[in-house]
Amino acid sequence: MSKTYALSDLIRADNFIDGQWVPAASGKRFAVTDPATGERIVEVADSGPADARAATDAAARAFPAWRDALPKERAAVLHRWHDLMIENADELGRLISLEQGKPLAEGRGEVLYGASYVAWFAAEATRVYGDIIPNQQRGKRMTAVKEPVGIVAAITPWNFPLAMIARKIAPALAVGCTVVGKPAEDTPLTALALVLLAHEAGVPAGVLNLITASRENAVPAVADWLADSRVHKITFTGSTAVGKYLARESAGTLKKLSLELGGNAPFIVFDDADLDAAATGLMAAKFRNGGQTCVCPNRVYVQSGVYEKFADLLTTRVAALKVAPATDAAAQIGPMINARAIDKIGQHVDDAVSRGARVLTGGRRLTELGPNYYAPTVLADATKQMQLSCEETFGPVAPLFRFDTEDEAIGAANDTPFGLASYFYSQDVRRIDRVARRLEAGIVGINEGALASEAAPFGGVKESGYGREGSKYGLDDYLSIKYLCQGGLE
Ligand code: SIN
Repeated sequence: MSKTYALSDLIRADNFIDGQWVPAASGKRFAVTDPATGERIVEVADSGPADARAATDAAARAFPAWRDALPKERAAVLHRWHDLMIENADELGRLISLEQGKPLAEGRGEVLYGASYVAWFAAEATRVYGDIIPNQQRGKRMTAVKEPVGIVAAITPWNFPLAMIARKIAPALAVGCTVVGKPAEDTPLTALALVLLAHEAGVPAGVLNLITASRENAVPAVADWLADSRVHKITFTGSTAVGKYLARESAGTLKKLSLELGGNAPFIVFDDADLDAAATGLMAAKFRNGGQTCVCPNRVYVQSGVYEKFADLLTTRVAALKVAPATDAAAQIGPMINARAIDKIGQHVDDAVSRGARVLTGGRRLTELGPNYYAPTVLADATKQMQLSCEETFGPVAPLFRFDTEDEAIGAANDTPFGLASYFYSQDVRRIDRVARRLEAGIVGINEGALASEAAPFGGVKESGYGREGSKYGLDDYLSIKYLCQGGLE
């Protein structure tokens, strides 16, 4: 199957429920805007509880047949969906850049990244094994089989509008779950385009349903799923505050949860590190998507002996970054997502400066480019009293903290309720082993800044959440284990 779409044909404005494009029951709409200019791209459905319920009804009707499809039949549909994503990678990438502000090359890169999860889980669909349990009593046979959990509600963030929803939907569909989804209000268009391609790939009506909602109406819409006992699982990527709300509110129907929440990633550069490699790793990890990634380093700890040298090396590279509209082919940093985001970045930098941080480069809004641009920034002399040491800045700001001993660096790195990613650079093999074990995080980058892979388990510890996405472990969150005990076999 091969079909390529023009960008205008990928842009959909209605909900997708039971295989049909339908407006919100209320008829309401809200505007999706280009973060580079603040201009409206299109108005999409502003859904409420009635739309959420209609999506669940469709998912419930579709579940038995999808559950009972052969794994290789589900895999074939996922492979077709993957192929359509690849064929449409340029236009999907452009759509991501348009609504989210990621530079074009990163937008296309996100399509390939998201599609890699679909291919991965298409293959995993055929490998969901159970166990025959060694006999404990004569005349009995004990087996464990894995079954889809049922209807999954997927709630996804704006920073990776394609990859985050793909890596939730793909494992769910692979094992036979049906899905109701809601993308972030800032970036619903890419998710709607993905659903269009999924339909084209042969995902049956009702198996995948997507509704969009404004910030105000998202809460009542999602609340309908939280209270509905037919929805068995919530998978969410976003803030820790919202993750806690979902956990609390879904307790009434005891849903299975996967929560990929906020981070406050430390990045440690030891005296014995290859400084050039560390600067390269930090550039990749910190400035990807303009710093708007849960695994972006938020606190950079540099050992005293190399502090000034590393600061110089980094500053030269950061000052050379090209900031421009995402659709400009030369852009390395695009606009931030919205006014709230840019205000928070400005507030973190101002707070740090008022408490003694030195601006080595950047440190200001680039209003000459548009409403949502911030200059890539390096701050020296950061301290733990600053707001940016305990909250995710989610922007292109690298604050450099100084430390003297390994214990001090690990203590500072772990001194946070969060535990998603952490990074360190060292060339001492014994230190590498020690530090990797002691860092409290679900993901540790060792002499490496680019960690993401469909083959790796992605997820956090502490208040960064639970559950894993990607890898052979990524199916577990969508499966339940059933124990079968057969007697009378003697
Ligand atoms: C995220 O920001 O949550 C995901 C980033 C990634 O997949 O690397």
